[in-house]
Amino acid sequence: MAETDTEQELDLTEGSDRHRDVVSRHRPDRIESVEEQDRSITFVTENQVELIIRLVTPEIFQLTYYLEGDVRSDFSYAIDPEFESPEFNYSVKQEDKHYVIETSSLRATVSKEKLLVDFYDKDGNVLCEDEDGFYRRESLMKGISELKVTKKAPRGVRYFGLGDKAVDVDLRGRAYENWNTDSYAYERGEDPLYRSIPFYLALIEDRAYGIFLDNTYRTRFSFDRQKDRVSSFNARGGVMNYYFIYGPKLKEVTERYTKLTGTPEMPPMWALGYHQCRWSYYPEARVRELADTFREKKIPCDAIYLDIDYMDEYRVFTWNKKLFPDAKKMISDLREQGFRTIVMIDPGVKMDKDYFVFQEGMDQDFFCKRPDGETVIAPVWPSKCVFPDFTQPDVRDWWADLYKPLVDDLEMGGIWNDMNEPAVFEVKRKTFPNDIRHDYDGHPCSHKKAHNIYGMQMARASLKGIKKHAPDRRPFLLTRANFSGGQRYAALWTGDNIATWDHLRLANEQCQRLSISGYSFVGSDVGGFVKKPDGELLARWMQLSVFHPLFRNHSMGYNVDGAAAVKKDQVELQKRNTENDQEPWCFGKKFTEINREAVNLRYRLLNYLYTAFYSYINEGTPVLKPLAYEDQGDSTAAMQNDAFLFGDDILVSPVVSKDKTVVTTYLPKGKWYHYWDDMIFEGGKTYDISAPLERIPFFVREGTVLPLREVMQYTDEKDPDVLELNVYHSASSKTSRLYEDGEEGWDYKNGEYRLTNFSYDPDEINQKTVLSASREGSYEPGYESVEITFIGLPFKPATANVDGKEKDVEIDDSETVKVCRVNVASGFEEIILS
Ligand code: NOJ
Repeated sequence: MAETDTEQELDLTEGSDRHRDVVSRHRPDRIESVEEQDRSITFVTENQVELIIRLVTPEIFQLTYYLEGDVRSDFSYAIDPEFESPEFNYSVKQEDKHYVIETSSLRATVSKEKLLVDFYDKDGNVLCEDEDGFYRRESLMKGISELKVTKKAPRGVRYFGLGDKAVDVDLRGRAYENWNTDSYAYERGEDPLYRSIPFYLALIEDRAYGIFLDNTYRTRFSFDRQKDRVSSFNARGGVMNYYFIYGPKLKEVTERYTKLTGTPEMPPMWALGYHQCRWSYYPEARVRELADTFREKKIPCDAIYLDIDYMDEYRVFTWNKKLFPDAKKMISDLREQGFRTIVMIDPGVKMDKDYFVFQEGMDQDFFCKRPDGETVIAPVWPSKCVFPDFTQPDVRDWWADLYKPLVDDLEMGGIWNDMNEPAVFEVKRKTFPNDIRHDYDGHPCSHKKAHNIYGMQMARASLKGIKKHAPDRRPFLLTRANFSGGQRYAALWTGDNIATWDHLRLANEQCQRLSISGYSFVGSDVGGFVKKPDGELLARWMQLSVFHPLFRNHSMGYNVDGAAAVKKDQVELQKRNTENDQEPWCFGKKFTEINREAVNLRYRLLNYLYTAFYSYINEGTPVLKPLAYEDQGDSTAAMQNDAFLFGDDILVSPVVSKDKTVVTTYLPKGKWYHYWDDMIFEGGKTYDISAPLERIPFFVREGTVLPLREVMQYTDEKDPDVLELNVYHSASSKTSRLYEDGEEGWDYKNGEYRLTNFSYDPDEINQKTVLSASREGSYEPGYESVEITFIGLPFKPATANVDGKEKDVEIDDSETVKVCRVNVASGFEEIILS
């Protein structure tokens, strides 16, 4: 009988019958009782292990394991409070050796002998089987120290996701930890990084499922690490509480996880423009010069960041008046020029009795404490700091209101939360000790439990403040640390990377991985944060990031080792500071031109990206996807690390190596049009694609209606005169969407949006093709006409019938690919080319 065994640790005191610690290990044995209530089935074993399987949806089962005497709480920061379980049918049956729970999509069996849980699809194909199943270790002195579930990892199963891991796309063969860590200048393979997303996906043949471990303690995931065909996940405390999420498509698993843990609201369009950052732009004159340079050089840009030096000696919510004597005027002038200003706010509050944030927080007892009530004091930028306990609702409200002067009075465009792992200088551990106390929204606990959600709760408080004090504007918040579900609050960037080619590759992999882990509003420090890129590396990084939802160039400038000494000498500092510049124009005329074209391309694609965001926000569809998401039955596609999907219909093959002007890329099944020359490629094959320095290869799926926007210097420079639509011919029908709204403000929530569903329906035999558009919502876009270019038609149309009226078409068949142009009104419903 598998049972709870207790072990006594060696005692050092001779002759004593006491032990240093007494350890108990629990593995469930025979099921003794089963109870069913409200879509929850509770199994209790003879040795008092309890498993509750809650059927959340027909595809999502939640499994929670308890032991007698455990404190039970279903409190979760990760699950979206707005998530609602639908009504559905299910059955629970008893068989010889198992109990069987079944919905229309998923079947789970629970073994009577050992409480092992296996999952199958509705046709009986295996998805995932327990190896040893549940295990728990606890001791008298330490309490629960390990909760673990072990599963089989059959040969050929691929593992994806886990949020932010600096490795190739498939996770198999390694173990990974989740513990938010300040990882300055991290390297490939370094783990853990800044954020924790304990959610992974597995692909078994062509069936996908996911597992989300909703536990905020330090967790560890292992995927066949010892080549023993076993995978496992464990936590250092709390409750073993995981969700099994069925697909069968990878995309569906991500979407279901994302809906469960929530999505943000539509970002303002400007937040999808190009952002320029640096540690740090100051004084004011330099910021103004930067803004002027963007406009002079005609490189579009929507946001400029002020890093920590804008503050008065790193006191959050203050200004250095010497460097920025009139911040209000500067921000408003920048706004006139089309820039939003974004400032940094850190969690560390300078310990200074004359500083209002410190005083207010102390007066209200809002800072984190040690077990005996002593306030935690630890060094970050301002040296001695105290730290708000963001897990307490009153603290979040107070913090939210501190933003009023910034977002209301100064009309700040956005906020950047950094160092919120929380990072602590000088100590090896880089963060708080484990015994620091937190409120955890009324479930008091130690830092062991709260560490991984500290940054998330900071972001939550910041978002609350930004929204409260600028209620008419859509917020933009950027955070470094976060946890599952934190995508509801903030965009994130991948932290302090390095200006190397391998980091460019990593940026690509990390952003894809975050995106399929429910976190689509992501980007990397373009050009690298540490060190200086050369022109080629920056150009390739700019080109890749055209396709990353957050497109922000950031570097540490001259804040390198030894900078403190130089900083005392202002003249020398200014000189040295520019040595590390990596703005788009810093590498000569040729690269300036290349970088400008990259940013222009981003602005051309904004409507497409915005529509991908709409799908992300409403359906949980990731904006970036590895090729495994395109055709999960195609093992060649599943092995690709570099090429990825941007939105549903663009496949990007970035250049991630030095001196490369040809990219070898695999294209999944179907036909793909090379964007730059409209050449058609038949998928299922690998191609060498020319990629001169000025071009990143990317392809559009056949049948797609691709919206292209007029390039402007910033997103709301003016209403566009015209919207362009490229229609890529396909022999079979295909639908595409275009989402539009006011790009700022909340009217879209009251129906002021326009969702256009395009349907492309060719009839090659009769040399005819139809493009129809049906629309939903009351929003009227600013442009009046639409310029449609049909690409790759296999016939030469003589006329276009637009909503019953004949129209001229312009034909260009000088190239191998036939192109036909028609201009129509923005509300067109049907175009027939014949
Ligand atoms: C660390 C952040 O990761 C980096 O982006 C920032 O520039 C520095 N802190 C200074 O604030």
